[in-house]
Amino acid sequence: MQEIIQSAAALLMAAGAESAKIGLILGSGLGDYAETLDNPRFVNYADIPGYPVSHVAGHKSRFVVGEKAGKTVVAMQGRFHFYEGIPQSLLALGVRTMRAVGVETVLITNAAGGVNMNFHPGSLMLISDHINYSGSNPLIGPNDDAWGPRFPDQSDTYSRALRIRLREMAAAEGIELEEGVYMMFSGPCFETPAEVRMARIVGADAVGMSTVPEAIVAAHCGMRVLGISLITNMAAGILDQKLSHDEVNETAAIARERFTRLVDLILEQLL
Ligand code: HPA
Repeated sequence: MQEIIQSAAALLMAAGAESAKIGLILGSGLGDYAETLDNPRFVNYADIPGYPVSHVAGHKSRFVVGEKAGKTVVAMQGRFHFYEGIPQSLLALGVRTMRAVGVETVLITNAAGGVNMNFHPGSLMLISDHINYSGSNPLIGPNDDAWGPRFPDQSDTYSRALRIRLREMAAAEGIELEEGVYMMFSGPCFETPAEVRMARIVGADAVGMSTVPEAIVAAHCGMRVLGISLITNMAAGILDQKLSHDEVNETAAIARERFTRLVDLILEQLL
């Protein structure tokens, strides 16, 4: 694992990532944002020895290094998922590669199903906390103390300080921003209506199939984490309609402009 991270970090450095302090992970249907970075440079996962490649529709498989408001950003355009058969420990690669080049704060985005009845497709939700219902954990296995402690604290995984400032900034810009708890299921099936009812009872506001492993690994190695869910659909059983990945990508496309405004705001003014 360490060698894979080192070769990935070397390729990112060669693409000009040495001054990057900000990382960005782009979820389903949201990957196009990476191409709004100035002077984008690309490092394909396929060109990194040992790296997994994401095969999910709507996910490209590459790092994009570029600038926003003069700040260097390392973006992952396309992420790996547990449901692709990749162990969660390998889902740590992207985040640790960012850390290895000096990234201090990572913005993790995803498409998610709305559980909170006040949400609607297109809502943007700041992640305040998560419930790891995936059945695994990316830190299972021997712990490398150079990355972080064996038993990491999770009381402030999604930086409270950043969330407070972002809420104020979004309000000032007139960008509606919900806040809530993200619950991770393994996927690839969408949840059943009974699972969604359970999710609501245990305190979830949104459900999805990503983000939690990356947030755990980022917090473990001392990075600040900010998480944004785009609610692409109401979770199963809430509306009388079936869920599909096409719908996820379609809603993401409709909401792209607002998502872009919010991420621009974060990169330009918050981080
Ligand atoms: N469930 C899980 N993951 C998702 C959903 C959902 O309803 N929508 C987008 N990603």
